Amino acid sequence: MKLAPRGIYLDHGATTPVDPEVLEAMLPFLQEEFGNPSSLHVPGRRARAAVEKARARVARLIGASPEEIVFTSGGTESDNLALFGTAFDRRFPTSVGESRGHIITSQIEHPAVLQSCRHLEELGYRVTYLPVDRTGRIAPEAVAEAIAEDTLLISIMFANNELGTLQPIREIGETARAQGIPFHVDAVQALGKVPLNLKELPVDMLSLSAHKIYGPKGIGALYVRSGLEVSPVGRGGHQERGLRPGTENVPGIVGFGKACELAARDWERNQKHLWALRERLLRVREELPAVRLNGHPTQTVPSTVNLCFMYVDGLTLQLNLSERGIYIATGSACTSGSLEPSHVLKALGLSDQAAFSSVRFTLGKDNTVEEMDYVVEQVKEVVEMLRLVTAPEDIGKCDENCPCLWEGVG
Ligand SMILES: Cc1ncc(COP(=O)(O)O)c(C=O)c1O
Repeated sequence: MKLAPRGIYLDHGATTPVDPEVLEAMLPFLQEEFGNPSSLHVPGRRARAAVEKARARVARLIGASPEEIVFTSGGTESDNLALFGTAFDRRFPTSVGESRGHIITSQIEHPAVLQSCRHLEELGYRVTYLPVDRTGRIAPEAVAEAIAEDTLLISIMFANNELGTLQPIREIGETARAQGIPFHVDAVQALGKVPLNLKELPVDMLSLSAHKIYGPKGIGALYVRSGLEVSPVGRGGHQERGLRPGTENVPGIVGFGKACELAARDWERNQKHLWALRERLLRVREELPAVRLNGHPTQTVPSTVNLCFMYVDGLTLQLNLSERGIYIATGSACTSGSLEPSHVLKALGLSDQAAFSSVRFTLGKDNTVEEMDYVVEQVKEVVEMLRLVTAPEDIGKCDENCPCLWEGVG
């Protein structure tokens, strides 16, 4: 197969290229349409109109009302705003040494949520980090059991960034709603990949990011259900209902709106295509022994395929494939370069060895079936080469229950 000039990019979970239609929509707002949306003159009003049009497009994609969309600088800021904004708004009056309130989250959240929770603990809040099963799923009953009198927020991600596993968001949301507890969902990796309709999904806040759906970097949104009280984290002007002060990133917002419009327009084609690519890539398991799918076989976004190639160092595999023009990841972009095994893979119960043997392929709408076949062929070649020196002779016997996979055994 002739390689595309820029190689085969399989790291769409880290970021996606800007769609040409998105770029075209943005360009006027980087050039002649430079008005500040807060200005009352004509250029200002044109910028305001563009921002509001984009807000309506984002809202439409998730079944929200435009007033419920707060533009931010991306998924990280949206997560911070949801957590700190809720915690600060609802802190319980305390005597010295008492908890300010309780938050429920999971062990496999993105660092934007986990680090915010750690900071809230430093500020005197209590946090429960729920475990997951071997496929990365949280048991909805565990959420119900963790609820305490002072629980002020539940924050659970929709699709995990390393595994693709989807959480039982509806069940968790129903539990939260029955108890009157706000429910925040990080949907950065789910947007455009799973149907999202907030008219019928019991979710109160939802974090979104444009650069995972062929929009620009540095722009995202937090959906805040109408009527929910959230405190601003930054202080300044009145923009974004006072929840996110600062002059709006107009070109970014316009690009995000366009990317949402395209995601809705191309939904069926993209879904069908991504599931077909996934199936093709998973054929690597027929070509090689001792390959484990980290994640859920069906409750997953189609685009994320996390595989453990036992007895292979994931980083070495990644670098060898990169030399061959195939670009994958050993984990999420936010944790790459870390010498620690992935906290997500460890939460599944995997041994350090198995975690370090895992790599993430994240597929995109412009990848092709031929590329998947080529990738399978190349992965097979590199893995067989590396295993010549690292794998035992009876590697063919390694399966899902092999002790080398799991923590504390082997
Ligand atoms: C699940 C999840 N949440 C949050 C983020 C952060 O988004 P951003 O890069 O827009 O800050 C990411 C990015 O990888 C993500 O995967």
